[in-house]
Amino acid sequence: MTGARGGRLPTAIDEAMQKINASVHIDSMLWREDIQGSVAHTAGLLRAGVITADEAKGIVAGLSQVASEIDSGKFVWDAAKEDVHMNIEARLVEIAGAVGGKLHTGRSRNDQIATDLRLWIRSKLDAIVAILDKFALVLLERSESEIDTLMPSYTHLQRAQPSRLSHHLMAWQEMLWRDRGRLVDARRRANESPLGSGAVAGSSFPLDREAVAKDLGFDSPMRNSLDATASRDFLMESASALAILAIHLSRIGEEIVLWCSQEFGYMVLSDSFSTSSSMMPQKKNPDVAELVRGRSALCIGSLTSLLILEKGLCLGYGRDLQEDKRPILDAVESVSVSLLALTGALATAEFRREKLQAALEGGHICATDLAEYLVVNGVPFREAHHLVGGLVRQAERLNCTLRDLPRDILEAAHPALIAAEAIDVLDPTKSVERRQIFGGPAKVRVLESISNAKVRWSGSG
Ligand code: ARG
Repeated sequence: MTGARGGRLPTAIDEAMQKINASVHIDSMLWREDIQGSVAHTAGLLRAGVITADEAKGIVAGLSQVASEIDSGKFVWDAAKEDVHMNIEARLVEIAGAVGGKLHTGRSRNDQIATDLRLWIRSKLDAIVAILDKFALVLLERSESEIDTLMPSYTHLQRAQPSRLSHHLMAWQEMLWRDRGRLVDARRRANESPLGSGAVAGSSFPLDREAVAKDLGFDSPMRNSLDATASRDFLMESASALAILAIHLSRIGEEIVLWCSQEFGYMVLSDSFSTSSSMMPQKKNPDVAELVRGRSALCIGSLTSLLILEKGLCLGYGRDLQEDKRPILDAVESVSVSLLALTGALATAEFRREKLQAALEGGHICATDLAEYLVVNGVPFREAHHLVGGLVRQAERLNCTLRDLPRDILEAAHPALIAAEAIDVLDPTKSVERRQIFGGPAKVRVLESISNAKVRWSGSG
């Protein structure tokens, strides 16, 4: 007889039932939190006068021995005992004797698992924020060291306007900053204590839920025992923040793949972050970026699983909720490895400045500047746009740049186009520096945003 079946079901469980029922192969990941929660609950039982100080001491000592057995790999997990909770409790009873059986007073596995998961996701979110901070730091450093590297900006993957590499890297950083906010937000809402909610409708023991919550570093006890045991939106929210972050990483990954291609040639990954081909000896592949792109698919899957798991589920606890662990673990693991790998890849990559700069020569990239120059010379923008569009057509036809168009064509379009300043307008470097607008790519602006971001990411802003 296993502990969870009790006297109600004294017979053995069917093998197939045990297979679908058992979760210890996954929820053993929560053992630290399970023990942490049990220690706090023991203190709660003592405060409530349900157990004596000696009993509490015996339970805590037993739990600490269980912890060291698990930590050292000596602990034998048993699927017949269903889950992490019953495995730990059974061993506690072996170690501490009958007093171990008092631990579960005023508690159910329903408030226990909700507590474990909240403690677990809290520490995982903290860990992910810490590695995200390191990634951002690398982006800020690279933005600084590449401040003078110009490159095209793109829309529709067509060259749009001259810009600078650091403006692009800082765009990545901005996306990640919002991700950070979402992670911190998810943590805040997860940080409440279900303990004392029991299976669904609380407990008759006078447990001080506030004190137990405080012991576990939670902001407060959850206000409603039904909600506390039945809700997993803290996991949906975390998975959502992680999925959005993973999508951002996949976009960065895609750009790295493009930039490392011979067609772009903007970037070279270090050998330590590249892979080769088993057949083609010349290959140096950006697998790191492709894997990050691929991992984002798993994160979307995790979020979808969690959303659907709870969809239409009546309150309170339903066993469907047991299936919440695999997806959230997958998302946490995927985002963590993706962040670490991208951090290393970007810290050690080389940007090929001459290639980036050379890309400014094609694509009539200063056409907008020319239209704006005509605006300054009194032409309404829509007309100027039309006029320069015509010049681009002619340049394409003559296979030359706007700068090299014959004088008579320029003059016919508008007399101001043959003035010396018009040539200046077509200089990509000057074009970038003209866009000193807030949020723009001019050097002063980007330097300013780098220094603001440094303050923000270091927590002092
Ligand atoms: N293993 C369950 C879970 O992960 C917790 C146990 C609750 N089981 C129960 N029969 N009420 O959600």
